[in-house]
Amino acid sequence: MTQASSLPLVERIGRLSAELTVAERENLKLMLSMAAGGLLVGHARQQPEALRREALETAQRSLPKLHDGKRPAFTTGIVFRGRAPFFTDAEIAAMDEESRANRHRAQRFHDHYVTSGAPLAREMALSSDINAFLSERVGPVLPTYKANYLYYDAPGLGIDPHVDKNEFALNVLTMLEHRPERRHSELILYPPEQDPVHIQLAHGESLVFFADSVTHQRTRTVAGESIRLVSFGYHPI
Ligand SMILES: [Fe+2]
Repeated sequence: MTQASSLPLVERIGRLSAELTVAERENLKLMLSMAAGGLLVGHARQQPEALRREALETAQRSLPKLHDGKRPAFTTGIVFRGRAPFFTDAEIAAMDEESRANRHRAQRFHDHYVTSGAPLAREMALSSDINAFLSERVGPVLPTYKANYLYYDAPGLGIDPHVDKNEFALNVLTMLEHRPERRHSELILYPPEQDPVHIQLAHGESLVFFADSVTHQRTRTVAGESIRLVSFGYHPI
């Protein structure tokens, strides 16, 4: 047996990734994320449980390896959770208002609605306060200029386990509204070999996480439930 073949599969995928073009790496990321997502929602039940578990762990642990070693300390993928210092109350209120005003422009994307590039959101994406906050924690980042308002405001909306595209590698996700007080839908992160992390954000709270590396989902809304979020994409450089 050669030395290479005795390396765990995850390490070998990491090595393979280093040889790939950007497009090839995105292709591999999509395959791994589809595999992780499919296994998490219970596909491949005909396969032995041990094999499914191993395949899931391999996919989950390989996803952070696709980024040129830029996720070295990856554990949960969460960089920050709570009321972020980079937004003032007035800015949250202004984005809340812009999100409401742009609901009619939102387009369906799989099982939720999205408005991209509204003026204030675009401006906020370039905030030097956000940039400084992120850079301090994960090293230098660049905004991808992607700023989306997200809406889960009809019964049955949500998003199945997935990882995000490159544009939202580092995702700053902020809750604008979640009604009613008794919540059903939740954000769940599935870090490798750990219990799932269940997240409910209060109004104005943010989750900053490596959305291109940790599988995550929003569970389905029920009748009467309505959620609005704003999401900004950044790239570690
Ligand atoms: Fe996502």
